[in-house]
Amino acid sequence: MELLSVLCLAAAAKGCHCLYLAYKFFLRPGKELKQYGQWAVVTGATDGIGKAYAMELARQGLNVLLVARSEERLTETAKELKGKYHVTVDQLKVDFSNFDAAAREAVKEKLATLDVGILINNVGLSYPYTKYFHELKDQEVADIMEVNMSSMTWMSRIVLGDESGSPGMLSRRRGAIVNTSSGSGRATSPLLAEYSAAKAYVERFSMGLGAELASKGIDVQAQTPLYVTTKMAKIRKSSMTVPSPQSYVECAARHIGYEAVISPWWAHSLQLWLLALLPEAVSVKFLDWQHQAIRKKGMKKDQEKAEEKKGQ
Ligand SMILES: NC(=O)c1ccc[n+]([C@@H]2O[C@H](COP(=O)([O-])OP(=O)(O)OC[C@H]3O[C@@H](n4cnc5c(N)ncnc54)[C@H](OP(=O)(O)O)[C@@H]3O)[C@@H](O)[C@H]2O)c1
Repeated sequence: MELLSVLCLAAAAKGCHCLYLAYKFFLRPGKELKQYGQWAVVTGATDGIGKAYAMELARQGLNVLLVARSEERLTETAKELKGKYHVTVDQLKVDFSNFDAAAREAVKEKLATLDVGILINNVGLSYPYTKYFHELKDQEVADIMEVNMSSMTWMSRIVLGDESGSPGMLSRRRGAIVNTSSGSGRATSPLLAEYSAAKAYVERFSMGLGAELASKGIDVQAQTPLYVTTKMAKIRKSSMTVPSPQSYVECAARHIGYEAVISPWWAHSLQLWLLALLPEAVSVKFLDWQHQAIRKKGMKKDQEKAEEKKGQ
């Protein structure tokens, strides 16, 4: 009898949890994002998820500061945004693979007069294709750390306002910082060791910082996508498990200000849950098998390109 009660209770708890998940992913309303401030800053804003975020935030009435490497692509994106939405759009050229003191000062200066409510730390860099760590070039090793971890850490510090007394989210007591992680940061990922470790840093940093700032009116969240149809993913066709950047962001923006870590696309969240159920040895074998296949394809393409070059 007691066992039956325990089983009933467990089933009821599971049922409630499933209902809550359905609410969270499909029904929960997004927050009023303009409450955080008038401006949004988006890094890596000229393509993929970052560009979709810039569009979505402008659609919601926020002014947007676009940040990326190429002046030409920034101007193009700004023009596209201004053509679609009646908001102010500004741009800043930054190469996050070299985010030194001078570059950080330039960002600080640009932000000094803006009421920045939202920072989307989106910029990221993965391997050209899955490889053994020792096969990466030194420059790639350095860039992966800089672009994924340093950029996010420093940008967060700049928008918060630092010990020099610069104005920011802390003095205004409002703001949201969204850091882009990756599903690979949740698992032991052979042939993607550095990227996955960098993304694990993104999640841990967000959780710690979010806990520190909870009482100060600032929401920090790590968003953890799996594949999205962008240049980085090298996938063109969208599907239920691989959304377009627009569909992904439409969903992701609705989760801002809630959990400390979330995989905003429901099918990604489900895949991560299933992966976590597997014994570690099985998930590692599975990812190794997947990544070895991608490596093989990538090496073949490299070889074809080299032969083409020789023939010219
Ligand atoms: N797509 C996926 O399947 C996927 C999955 C998991 C996680 N993510 C994460 O999602 C984020 C966005 O990825 P994405 O796929 O949307 O990327 P993407 O389509 O390749 O776009 C990257 C953006 O970042 C800019 N950028 C690249 N390197 C830069 C640098 N050194 N300094 C400044 N800007 C730079 C690019 O513009 P310029 O080249 O003009 O500077 C572009 O605007 C990343 O953090 C990534 O790790 C993506």
